[in-house]
Amino acid sequence: MHSHSVRTIGITTGGGDCPGLNAVIRAVVRSAIRCHGWRVLGIRDGFDGLLHPEQSRWLSLDDVRDILPRGGTILGTTNRGNPFEYRVEENGIEVVRDLSDRVIENARMLGLDALVVVGGDGTQRIGLRLHDKGLPVVGVPKTIDNDLAATDSTFGFDSALHVATDAVDRLHTTAESHRRIMLLEVMGRDAGWIALHAGIAGGAHAILLPEIPFSLDRLCDFITRRDAKQKNYTLIVVAEGVRLPDELRAASAKHKTPVANLIGDAIAARTRREVRVTVLGHTQRGGSPSPFDRVLSTRFGVAAVELLARDQFGYMAALRGCEVVPVSLREACSTMKFVDPQSDLVRAARTIGISFGDSP
Ligand code: F6P
Repeated sequence: MHSHSVRTIGITTGGGDCPGLNAVIRAVVRSAIRCHGWRVLGIRDGFDGLLHPEQSRWLSLDDVRDILPRGGTILGTTNRGNPFEYRVEENGIEVVRDLSDRVIENARMLGLDALVVVGGDGTQRIGLRLHDKGLPVVGVPKTIDNDLAATDSTFGFDSALHVATDAVDRLHTTAESHRRIMLLEVMGRDAGWIALHAGIAGGAHAILLPEIPFSLDRLCDFITRRDAKQKNYTLIVVAEGVRLPDELRAASAKHKTPVANLIGDAIAARTRREVRVTVLGHTQRGGSPSPFDRVLSTRFGVAAVELLARDQFGYMAALRGCEVVPVSLREACSTMKFVDPQSDLVRAARTIGISFGDSP
């Protein structure tokens, strides 16, 4: 099946990296070349690469050999390169400029018939705006945060979850040996998906999420009651985007302290117990993709090329149930996905005794 209009495609990876990006690049290159005989241009560093088109390079089958299990992205990425609000220095002063026309011109100059945009919500929104300006775009949803509503899962999430769950497992043994209160801060931006899943998977005792406001009194009561039952260690998974109680919010605004440190200090002051905090950070974004993410990335990459072959531009590949389906980029960019406090997942966690720091 050969499309009549698409012959040369570009691919770019934007926003924060995550495991599985290279697997998508490999799938796109392999299906574009093997099934359609197209040429694939690798655009460097997200949309920045279309401001510096000389850095682009053709991707051959050889270029994508052995990259399936490799973390990061062979194309580089940035989470600062929005061409509609680009920071440039003029006469020693930083100003914000709309360089999107230049991006479109460069894409034409490079001979691109379409662009595969691999990224999270910010990157897909930029892709949609470029599509609206005349550059045919197809999206592939990426982020460890899993906060894109249009897809049941983004690739990267499962790999991040493995790292976070492993950390909870490891903290268990040391927390128990020392009878300490241990906090683990995980990523996820404004969504609590990594914290919720890793907390349940790792058998944490409490999970603090952006979607469920907690109180220090209730959390400390929970810890004290565990102590009274001789369960004298407590493991708490904290989402980085958790909403802090008023008494901690001022401190958080003043210093850029990780939220888990602020919560840990407050718990130590109230319970007079030994507290330790681990901030997992970018280990969640690095390293090899999980088997699930390798498969999902491959399916997404192939689906993106199928969309291009059907001239179905302005769409993103999405996982719905067991199927990968097209979803319009406009729909995909319209809503984010957050943890529903009434969901069966949260109810299941509560039922087995996990505290969200919100109830006695
Ligand atoms: O969106 C992915 C993510 O890792 C978030 O979970 C986190 O808040 C953010 O990116 C970190 O960004 P940076 O790599 O710029 O520190």
